[in-house]
Amino acid sequence: QNDPLVVFTPSGKRGHFPVGTPILTAARQLGVDLDSVCGGRGICSKCQITPSYGEFAKHGVTVAPDALSEWNAVEERYKSKRGLIDGRRLGCQATVQGDVVIDVPPESQVHKQVVRKRAEAREIIMNPAVKLFYVVVAEPDMHDPSGDLERLRMALEAQWQISNLQIDLTTLQTLQTALRKGQWKVTCAIHLGNHAFRPRIMQVWPGFHEEPIFGLAVDLGSTTIAAHLCDLQSGEVVASSGIMNPQIRFGEDLMSRVSYTMMNAGGAAELTAAVRGGMNALFSQIAAEAGVAKTDILDAVFVCNPVMHHLFLGIDPFELGQAPFALATSDALNLTAAELGLDLNPSTRVYLLPCIAGHVGADAAAVALSEAPDKSEDLVLVVDVGTNAEILLGNREKVLACSSPTGPAFEGAQISSGQRAAPGAIERVEIDPVTKAPRFKVIGSDLWSNEDGFSEAVASTGITGICGSGIIEMVAEMRLAGIVDGPGLIGAPELTGTDRCILDGRTYSYLVWDGTANGGPRITVTNRDIREIQMAKAALYSGARLLMDKFGVDKVDRIVLAGAFGAHISPKHAMVLGMIPDAPLDKVTSAGNAAGTGARIALLNQDARAEIEQTVRDIHKIETAIEPRFQEHFVNASNIPNSVEPFPILNS
Ligand code: FES
Repeated sequence: QNDPLVVFTPSGKRGHFPVGTPILTAARQLGVDLDSVCGGRGICSKCQITPSYGEFAKHGVTVAPDALSEWNAVEERYKSKRGLIDGRRLGCQATVQGDVVIDVPPESQVHKQVVRKRAEAREIIMNPAVKLFYVVVAEPDMHDPSGDLERLRMALEAQWQISNLQIDLTTLQTLQTALRKGQWKVTCAIHLGNHAFRPRIMQVWPGFHEEPIFGLAVDLGSTTIAAHLCDLQSGEVVASSGIMNPQIRFGEDLMSRVSYTMMNAGGAAELTAAVRGGMNALFSQIAAEAGVAKTDILDAVFVCNPVMHHLFLGIDPFELGQAPFALATSDALNLTAAELGLDLNPSTRVYLLPCIAGHVGADAAAVALSEAPDKSEDLVLVVDVGTNAEILLGNREKVLACSSPTGPAFEGAQISSGQRAAPGAIERVEIDPVTKAPRFKVIGSDLWSNEDGFSEAVASTGITGICGSGIIEMVAEMRLAGIVDGPGLIGAPELTGTDRCILDGRTYSYLVWDGTANGGPRITVTNRDIREIQMAKAALYSGARLLMDKFGVDKVDRIVLAGAFGAHISPKHAMVLGMIPDAPLDKVTSAGNAAGTGARIALLNQDARAEIEQTVRDIHKIETAIEPRFQEHFVNASNIPNSVEPFPILNS
């Protein structure tokens, strides 16, 4: 073989190529991941490579100083106008002259790995649905009756091998101006299509479009709507923002919103308008924050629970409020921003992940995508805690899913001193086993309260109530200190040894903090509060336990707590309460906003969409409402931690 050898790193791919072959061509022939937007015209600089010279025993080559061609005029012009990092060359201009080792830096790879954030269970490899393509189009000719679109299609097929392209009317309306302004050179943003629909021209810019294009990953929750704006070429999150779901004024929890739609004519439409309006405000805010034009947002992925899913789509959620909880569709949906009344580019594609079942939504599918229980060697229990707990249990063999109605107690609702997680809310608690006095920390301060009461620093934040994670720690600490017994009764002072236990009607309450002397609140935990927490934690545990029954196991290898709330729960206290199954504490981890991460994965890698659609088809759905054992587990789990299950690891 007399042709020079070209070795690419880090892939290790190698091959012999005739002298004069551009590095980009060699890379394409070997299937090396080297980017190009301009098609080798020396405009985009996406094809940058770093040649290495010298002795490479590992690769069996010696690279001479003249292994690549001299700089040509195109490359020189690019360097003088735009600059190139020292040692870099444009892969489309530099040609092979001798044996050479070529490094492809991460930013020149199309399928680069996105920097992984803490708590993310899997890496994201870039493969967005929308990409940019620079193309040179034939000019119209009196002898050729074809239209501008037809010639653009031909050019894209010849230069980029993309065929069968569709276009929206709104994009078509801009085409002729763009082609003429760009002197028959344009950049197209193309949605490459998938199993569900054909590739589509989304946007056409005159000449070479330098600016990045963007996508949105949206977690549409019943309480908050959170969005990440991502650069579709680098994968970077350029801005993140969230707002309260404006539907809250129609009801704090989902069922009250469903009731609103049942009791008010036009109620569902009002809720749809509210959530879409909120989203448009959020999108304007996030685009302004990042300095991005909303029309450059070309792809969006949404995850949400089934009720939000229907209300966002403008489908009356009536059927979800009653058995057998039939969804209008559980399939993934490919829609447009225009259809959904979203104020983005009208062509922007909106992808909704599939729902798993009537109570297990696209948010749970997104958690399954991000936590990938179906790829786990060990048996993992994934719990997304909200007003409904969505629970997944599985490993490579199979994955089961259910939801369990925990109610809003874990969000601080229906708790006498409960509140949302906000500054002033008690979030961490310790109760002294001897004095039975509490120490606590409120959101907004890093300091713990001291023995004499509240430290000054904490007092400056004010204390307003107890949030969901705080109430879990509180009840668990009360149990550990013997203030509350297994069945959930707060003891009298003579039994508990503290006069913080105060008769309150026919039961006792535990005094946490009395700030009334200074005009502050008096915070107690009542026996009713304990009852609410018992119900909520029993619902969560019984769902998990039911899945364990169905899997034929009585323990799990690890537990992942997902969701914003999951990120704040103390695993030890959750286990003391018997909220989650017994497991070594170091095997209980928090995944943060796993649903949001799942949305971002599906946004940045379109193969992940097909993957989660298949995973959801394969998940075994369990309906807790019709499982007799669920009730049995629920009754046992109402005790703290459980009236029949021993929790040996916790007690060891
Ligand atoms: Fe665009 Fe080389 S491919 S500059």
